[in-house]
Amino acid sequence: MSFNCIILDIQDQIATISFNRPKALNALSNELFDELDQAVGQIRNNKEIKVLILTGAGDKAFVAGADISELAAMDALKSKFFSKKGQDVMGQLETLPIPVIAAVNGYALGGGLEAAMVCDFIYASEKAVFGLPEITLGLIPGFGGTQRLARLVGNNMAKELIFTGKSLTAAEALEVGIVNKVCPPESLMDEVMSTAVKIARMGRVALRAAKETVHYGSQVDLETGCKIENDNFGLCMASPDAKEGTSAFLEKRKPEFKGELF
Ligand code: CAA
Repeated sequence: MSFNCIILDIQDQIATISFNRPKALNALSNELFDELDQAVGQIRNNKEIKVLILTGAGDKAFVAGADISELAAMDALKSKFFSKKGQDVMGQLETLPIPVIAAVNGYALGGGLEAAMVCDFIYASEKAVFGLPEITLGLIPGFGGTQRLARLVGNNMAKELIFTGKSLTAAEALEVGIVNKVCPPESLMDEVMSTAVKIARMGRVALRAAKETVHYGSQVDLETGCKIENDNFGLCMASPDAKEGTSAFLEKRKPEFKGELF
């Protein structure tokens, strides 16, 4: 299926969604959210795909936020629905059962940073710029940014960034823990792809269990988190992948994970 505002590419078990509205620095419009929702649904139902990469088309922006021209025309109720729609699509991305990597190639502002934060981790180009500038528009982040940034960098750092709307360079984003790795612009996609290929070699069952355990475990107390880990550890052992992985180790060979989902 072809889209107007995003590009979906699937190759060798790795899907890539590129935000693609270059004239608006890939800003998140209503139409883009509809398409993103469809693409994420396709990926969720495609049992071949093991990793998703999110990036921005062009060399200037990952996503420069929600589409401000659309926002400016909304009344309070429409903007509440738009925020909820954005939150729901972000939630769909965040709960995909496969690892999702953000390759942030330029501006990741407002909704752009919010989209990057629902990924499991972020690699950034040296040219990337991060921030939640909604306050400069008289707004607050509306696609989960107030919640996810605080969880990622702590309440105080999140409040400073949200109250001032200031931007961080890629190096600063690395320092505060938003980003895992900063790469020269020309090697960003190679670095992300190399990590994606490494992950795609792992067993699907264990990848899903690891993702869900960290995700849901981080929202509960330690004891409950360890209980989730304990259950998912047992589920992994019930999968053929765990038999294959442990046998391969003992037989001194590389494992070949077939990976059925539980
Ligand atoms: N929405 C709509 N259009 C946007 C946009 C956005 N978020 N960001 C950039 N554009 C458009 C510009 O209007 C401009 O269009 P024209 O050529 O038709 O004038 C084009 O993209 C290029 O942008 P600039 O000329 O501004 O490029 P620049 O290099 O001078 O500046 C920038 C780049 C610093 C990213 C600047 O464009 C900017 O500040 N953008 C807005 C960032 C922002 O405030 N994001 C938060 C949005 S609100 C939000 O996200 C709410 C939410 O959480 C729910």
